[in-house]
Amino acid sequence: MVNIKEIGRRRTFAIVSHPDAGKTTLTEKLLLYGGAIQVAGAVKSNKIKKTATSDWMEIERQRGISVATSVMGFEYKNIKINILDTPGHQDFAEDTFRTLTAVDSVIVVIDVAKGVEPQTEKLVRVCRMRKTPIIVFINKLDREGKDAFELLDEIEKKLDLRVTPLSWPIGMGNGFYGIYNNYFKNLHLFTPAKQTIEKDIVFGNLTDPDMKKYLGDRVDILSDDMEIVNGVYPAFDSAKYLKGEMSPVFFGSALNNFGVKELLEIFIDIAPSPLGRESDKYFVKPENEAFTGFVFKIHANMDPNHRDRIAFVRVVSGTFKRNTNYLHVRQNRLIKFSSPTAFMAQKKSVVDESFPGDIVGLHDTGNFKIGDTLTEGEILQFKGIPSFSPELFKYVVNTEPMRAKQLAKGIDQLMDEGVAQLFTEKSSRRKIIGTVGALQFEVIQYRLEHEYGAKCRYETISLFKTAWFVSENKAQLNDFRARKAGQIALDKEGREVFMADSSFSLQMAEQKYTDIKFHFTSEF
Ligand code: G4P
Repeated sequence: MVNIKEIGRRRTFAIVSHPDAGKTTLTEKLLLYGGAIQVAGAVKSNKIKKTATSDWMEIERQRGISVATSVMGFEYKNIKINILDTPGHQDFAEDTFRTLTAVDSVIVVIDVAKGVEPQTEKLVRVCRMRKTPIIVFINKLDREGKDAFELLDEIEKKLDLRVTPLSWPIGMGNGFYGIYNNYFKNLHLFTPAKQTIEKDIVFGNLTDPDMKKYLGDRVDILSDDMEIVNGVYPAFDSAKYLKGEMSPVFFGSALNNFGVKELLEIFIDIAPSPLGRESDKYFVKPENEAFTGFVFKIHANMDPNHRDRIAFVRVVSGTFKRNTNYLHVRQNRLIKFSSPTAFMAQKKSVVDESFPGDIVGLHDTGNFKIGDTLTEGEILQFKGIPSFSPELFKYVVNTEPMRAKQLAKGIDQLMDEGVAQLFTEKSSRRKIIGTVGALQFEVIQYRLEHEYGAKCRYETISLFKTAWFVSENKAQLNDFRARKAGQIALDKEGREVFMADSSFSLQMAEQKYTDIKFHFTSEF
């Protein structure tokens, strides 16, 4: 039987932001409200510091910790909340993009002083492509920042979002008094509290005579502001929000626990319960009887003596059950899992059943790669987890010929985890690693040595971009292959890729070979 009740009470989402806007702090405060942690500071250790570009041993250490915080589940008012953690460091942007395929909505955190930053723009663009419902939380109101109206304008322009404020700040910085909740129509006064939850003072509405007592002349400013807000911005429309066409905005200070409760309470009210996912066969609805799910993240064990991994599976439909045979569609074989893990608060525990929206951690010895689908027997493949054309490239060279096998295995598994992409030049058989961030090259070298006992070095290659290419026109295809023989490689799946050395050569190829389609993501 399909458990509609379980589906309906789940909210699976991610908090995203430009580094330093307050994603970690907000996550932590939500856990605090959910009773999942008792004091602040617990999530911090998961954070990959932005200074870590050179000190990346620290990243490895933190990667170890972050298994526990990859998914943080907790219950609040009988709603099961799953927060999926995304790495803040921009070199891991692709991890973040993949994690976004496993959520049903996002909260974007923006620093009131800095406004919309580059990483915010990138992340929101991905969400918009997927039509993911977006809530905006403007953080750090305890500091001086941009004017609220100005900021909303900036968000609309730069992020191309249609906004509607559901809360409104009264002052900011030293003069920050509180926020008016435009959804529940009440007022919360600001009392700084960093560690624990303070009780908010709640009023009825803007015309409550007691408000003047607390706000003095600020009541008039607030009333004027609200008149503009209600006149200029459209009323909140749930259907539009759920289609990704309207974004409610909240103000607050995560560090001071302020505005976080409003966010959480409204979030559980309006955020979508688990949504279905598109497959190569049909749209799979969560209430479908048969279990389906897909792998969106693979996490390696840091202990070199236990080179196992955890594959994170998002349950899309049906009920996932322990010790039950499921079809690994790509490998066309049945696998069962004796100890699938669920993530509650920051602990892992073996779980007997999981429902749509849940994330299950499956112990993996190298069978999975990102994007793999599990079903009860049906042959279908979920779509929407493409690899992006990398931006940085290097030849990888084995420095210990006796350990070629270890190197090949290591590279193979790291690519399955989605750390980077491997291309093999068709003519020379040389291997090229392509990444989206510089840090990955170090990560790969280090992990190959420590987890697989293989050593490699890199050699520079001057490449602009790779593009997958296909065509029905055999003559053009063959001509292209012949003329560009030295610039064609195969990806891990054996698909042909054009290794363009400049934007000019890519442009020329596109102009000359009009029947060839060049693709910059692997899913086409
Ligand atoms: P991130 O995950 O988005 O990168 O941001 P994070 O939560 O780590 O916050 C970045 C910095 O901003 C932290 O300070 C954090 O304490 C601070 N911060 C978060 N929310 C607020 C807020 O509402 N008001 C103010 N004033 N500051 C806030 P840090 O000094 O970098 O780190 P820490 O030393 O406090 O850990």
